[in-house]
Amino acid sequence: MKLLKLQKKLSETEPYPPSEDTFFLADYVKNIKGYSALDVGTGSGYLSALLAKSFSLVVATDISFNVLKKQNYFTSNMICCNGADALNYKFDLIICNLPYLNTEEVLDLTTDGGKEGLTIPMEIIGSVKSRIKPGGELIYVTSSLSNFKKLIDYTKLDGFSVRIIAKKKLFFEDLILVKAIKLFS
Ligand SMILES: C[S@@+](CC[C@H](N)C(=O)[O-])C[C@H]1O[C@@H](n2cnc3c(N)ncnc32)[C@H](O)[C@@H]1O
Repeated sequence: MKLLKLQKKLSETEPYPPSEDTFFLADYVKNIKGYSALDVGTGSGYLSALLAKSFSLVVATDISFNVLKKQNYFTSNMICCNGADALNYKFDLIICNLPYLNTEEVLDLTTDGGKEGLTIPMEIIGSVKSRIKPGGELIYVTSSLSNFKKLIDYTKLDGFSVRIIAKKKLFFEDLILVKAIKLFS
């Protein structure tokens, strides 16, 4: 994406309101406890606020500074970056409600995944993989609207055991929850 076009999109992006996919991930995350957790693509901060109930250290990232400024659920430890690029730390848990729509171009940063719904998810997963402790977990939401099998295969690289842990049928898609456990560093 050209730099000026990207800057315009970033400055215009509004926080994604908590939606079906947010609640799908929240239902699973609310039962996990640990020391450190990272919420990538935090949007409104709804999931980070939930993590803060059961983790001592919670960090939230989003690629849009405008989104972070307008966040209303979680207001500390927020970092504006791609994925986890700005962090030099290994977390017990990383979660992400990915922008997964299969789109020719990325016009809406909150929902568009690019070709096959994979360009942005692969960029985010590539960024977070090295920020998980051995034995730690990455949990993300994807969808039947994207090439989720290819995304799972990509997640398996670099020592991860990966499986689908839940599916939810909606009117026009199946939401898919994926868990990846880091086997070694
Ligand atoms: C589907 S929304 C999810 C928002 C929130 N986590 C939720 O579940 O309601 C995806 C979020 O990812 C952010 N995002 C998109 N690309 C990103 C990237 N490369 N790195 C970090 N955040 C990104 C968007 O700005 C948006 O806030």
